Amino acid sequence: MSVVAAQHARVLSGMRPTGRLHLGHYHGVLKNWVELQHEYQCLFFVADWHALTTNYDDPSNIPQSTWDMVIDWLAAGVNPGESTIFIQSRVPEHAELHLLLSMITPLSWLERVPTYKDQQEKLREKDLSTYGFLGYPLLQAADILVYRAGMVPVGEDQVVHVELTREVARRFNHIYGREPGFEEKAEDAIKKMGKKAAKLFNSYKKAYQEQGDDEALANARALLESQQNIGVSDRDRLFGYIEGGGKVVLPEPQPLLTKASKMPGLDGQKMSKSYNNTIPLNAQPDEVEKQLRTMPTDPARVRRNDPGDPANCPVWQFHEVYSDERTQNWVREGCTTAGIGCVECKGPIIEAVLHELKPIQARAKEYEEQPDLVKNIINEGCEAAREVARETMDEVRHVMSLDD
Ligand code: TRP
Ligand code: SF4
Repeated sequence: MSVVAAQHARVLSGMRPTGRLHLGHYHGVLKNWVELQHEYQCLFFVADWHALTTNYDDPSNIPQSTWDMVIDWLAAGVNPGESTIFIQSRVPEHAELHLLLSMITPLSWLERVPTYKDQQEKLREKDLSTYGFLGYPLLQAADILVYRAGMVPVGEDQVVHVELTREVARRFNHIYGREPGFEEKAEDAIKKMGKKAAKLFNSYKKAYQEQGDDEALANARALLESQQNIGVSDRDRLFGYIEGGGKVVLPEPQPLLTKASKMPGLDGQKMSKSYNNTIPLNAQPDEVEKQLRTMPTDPARVRRNDPGDPANCPVWQFHEVYSDERTQNWVREGCTTAGIGCVECKGPIIEAVLHELKPIQARAKEYEEQPDLVKNIINEGCEAAREVARETMDEVRHVMSLDD
């Protein structure tokens, strides 16, 4: 498969090892991963080097957090038969690409990334004036580009990092994609397609370069995908040539924004460990029940007879996630007329959350009882990831004159 074709099919995402995950991770990230794995070649990894950028002073928890997180991924339904699960630090190619990309990345690009200053402000108690922390988004770019991934499922806050990745890739291709004789090679490749296809290709290329016609660009790409007469290298040359650039060595990825399925926390704010309002995926049923039974409701409902307003109630936000229209109507009606009590109102939520957690916890138990199986899954994932990464690095080294 050519670089650009492979890229379309490949999805990559990572998470820093934060330990046990909660329902916010499940609804915001993991459910999406589980769906994607049926459709694409998915690579999911633990970004343990990224954890070091903010926790270099005490890395001792990282191994346990990594382990717990992988168990939770598996428990949530990430299927090692469909997805590749691995650990960043076990694929040293990420580090090599990070280093090579650092040669061509202007400092100002990194200083300009908004998360750089934001995080320094937010995590005041930490010393984040390090080289590693400035390089955080470039390491992320290397994570993505080393697999030539086409799609990167991320939250809103990470889109700027994917944007930076695109800029770095563009710069890389611009500098190193111009092998000696690139233009002649590209023209020869066009001839190999045969007269008719060549003519069509040239007209699309012209329409795109002269009029910025995006449809022509899409058509030219589709035409290339369908060509049987040209090899992978020629195809990658021509993908770059359409746009007037060099060979595409590192294709630009797209962010895949997770549908804003906002999971409320027990207090109505976004569910997050730092707000102390989470329901962990491994919470025992009686614990979950207690957490939900004691969660706050509309403060206007002091007595059972006081009517309430779901808009002011965190429990309602749970109904928005879990309940069908009938139940939602029952809540709205019952709450505003004081027809139901809050304990009653929470009943269907408790049931829904327990129902959701049940298969997750059953799977977690299975994996926890078989640590060797989990180790194998990770080992195999690391090996499979490395194979893809090695291929990219062979080409990267070649275009940077680092091979012999
Ligand atoms: N920075 C991401 C986060 O904090 C984690 C991450 C590291 C990542 N490398 C990545 C996500 C590559 C997607 C792709 O959530
Ligand atoms: Fe909230 Fe339901 Fe009580 Fe209304 S009845 S305040 S929606 S818990």
